Amino acid sequence: MKKVAIVYWSGTGNTLAMANEIADELKNSDLEAEVINCSSFSEGDVANYDGFAFGCPAMGSEELEEGEFEPMFESVEKSLSDKPVLIFGSYEWAEGEWMHTWQERCEGDGINLVCDGLIAYDYPDDDALKECRRAASDLAKALQ
Ligand SMILES: Cc1cc2nc3c(=O)[nH]c(=O)nc-3n(C[C@H](O)[C@H](O)[C@H](O)COP(=O)(O)O)c2cc1C
Repeated sequence: MKKVAIVYWSGTGNTLAMANEIADELKNSDLEAEVINCSSFSEGDVANYDGFAFGCPAMGSEELEEGEFEPMFESVEKSLSDKPVLIFGSYEWAEGEWMHTWQERCEGDGINLVCDGLIAYDYPDDDALKECRRAASDLAKALQ
């Protein structure tokens, strides 16, 4: 069974709710899905997974969380080869600029993004959870 790592940082649980919804949909698609706090993931773990979902809310001033998520992502972003990747996260204060910046960074790295970066305002509502399932099914399709 193919295995997906859903690696996240979440201060108040909003991005974690997205991570859990993505994991549920991947499991429905007969994939193994592990939700992993970014502090427990590093470059050495990349080889153990067939696909990835990385989740981080907008922090700082339209940035990735700098204490744990940014150093983790910096250490793995050049090692993902052509494995399919989904990026996602929650925001509240602005319009999602951090996700545009993050997506451009991934595209610059040559990362195989399965769809545009997925954003949810605050705690994901029903529509946002549906979007999480749609994006997860894009990731599942890329792994078929
Ligand atoms: C220190 C800090 C910085 C933040 N910076 C931004 C930001 O630049 N843009 C934005 O839209 N929201 C910003 N927010 C709001 C969070 O992105 C928002 O509350 C999000 O839902 C938190 O997700 P989480 O529960 O997964 O941590 C910030 C929140 C905190 C605490």
